[in-house]
Amino acid sequence: MAYYWIRPVVRVVLSELVFCMLMALLNPADTVQVVGQADPVIALVGDDVILPCSLSPMTSAKDQSVNWLRPEIILKEVHFYSDGRDSNADQNLAYRGRTSLFKEELKNGNISLKMSNVKISDAGNYSCYVPTLDKEQKATIELTVGAVSQPVISIMGPKDDGVVLKCESGGWYPEPKMTWLNNNGSILPSDGPTETQTDSAGRYSVRGEVTIQKTDSNKVTCRVNQQQINKIKETEINVPDEAFAKSHGGLIAGVIIAVLVAVVAGGIGVFMWRKKKLTKKQLEEKEITVLKLVKDKEELVEVCINKEEEKKLTKKQLEEKEITVVELVKEKEELEVVCIKNEEEKKKLENKLKEQILKTEQEKKVKQQLEDQEMQLKQQLVEKGKWAVVV
Ligand SMILES: *[C@@H]1O[C@H](CO)[C@@H](O)[C@H](O)[C@H]1NC(C)=O
Ligand SMILES: *[C@@H]1O[C@H](CO)[C@@H](O)[C@H](O)[C@H]1NC(C)=O
Ligand SMILES: *[C@@H]1O[C@H](CO)[C@@H](O)[C@H](O)[C@H]1NC(C)=O
Repeated sequence: MAYYWIRPVVRVVLSELVFCMLMALLNPADTVQVVGQADPVIALVGDDVILPCSLSPMTSAKDQSVNWLRPEIILKEVHFYSDGRDSNADQNLAYRGRTSLFKEELKNGNISLKMSNVKISDAGNYSCYVPTLDKEQKATIELTVGAVSQPVISIMGPKDDGVVLKCESGGWYPEPKMTWLNNNGSILPSDGPTETQTDSAGRYSVRGEVTIQKTDSNKVTCRVNQQQINKIKETEINVPDEAFAKSHGGLIAGVIIAVLVAVVAGGIGVFMWRKKKLTKKQLEEKEITVLKLVKDKEELVEVCINKEEEKKLTKKQLEEKEITVVELVKEKEELEVVCIKNEEEKKKLENKLKEQILKTEQEKKVKQQLEDQEMQLKQQLVEKGKWAVVV
């Protein structure tokens, strides 16, 4: 009865054992793995670099094929080893003569690639595998290529009571950062942002300036760093006291500048004050002018009204006058008529007068003739009387 519970346990143990043996058969311990490196390999332009790759567990690769490829580019072949020798007929020309395997290490499963004179274009992913062992097993290693250069510091000259320093560093890849540090390693605020330029090869040049005070320690560091390639380049300078403006000169200059500033500020102040005053005065004047103008306007309006009234009046007068004129004209006409009549009468009278004058003259003539006749008659009478006397 006690065996009842033992049998299932035995069954389980047995089944586990069988499973483990099967697994061991299917996945033998000597299955070779290709091992690379997780972190990118960092190299500087011109360096020789090793891309690590090995077989694990240790298996000789001496009689195997070893293939190094760049999967991301079209001509992928970087290095090929087969039949105990390099076989680089299909190699990408960019790698010609720059790649090799450590022949003595192949038997130890070390299939690392040595690459010399690294270029920026070499940056990328590389795969290593042993096709004769396992086509699927491969390791990928990333190569990061950088370029660095030593920064150069120059003293630009004094500024106020400090000194301006310039730091330049060219030929970096990728783009670096520039920082100024004082004696204690604290960051000094730079004069504006870092200027960056790239050359035709895609390399970066950086340039920056800092103004240091005499009160700072005279030891200054220019640091240029690139995080991706984990590179820092530093240059240190000890700024000599002579680089700073002479303290007296500086003081005098400072005083002169202060005085100038004060004078200018004062001038501006007075100008502004006067301007303000002037403006106030002008405003007042303007106000007065405006008041005057308003008054004038009012007066003008009044005058206008007056004029309007006058005009009305005048119009009335005119109308009246017109009436008068009409009347006068009428009167005149009447008068003319009268005049004409008078004239006519006058003429008549004149005529009468003339006639009368004529008459009078005729009468005078007639009278004269009569008198003459009388005289003649008297004379005749006298002569006849004489005769009578004589006779
Ligand atoms: C492979 O061999 C080279 C040269 O001896 C050595 O520098 C490198 O570290 C070795 N790599 C591995 C993964 O053992
Ligand atoms: C290399 O491969 C990794 C993973 O696929 C990718 O993130 C990285 O961008 C590649 N590197 C380059 C330089 O193409
Ligand atoms: C910098 O270091 C000097 C001594 O070298 C020290 O006297 C000064 O207080 C330090 N300044 C700061 C800001 O840490």
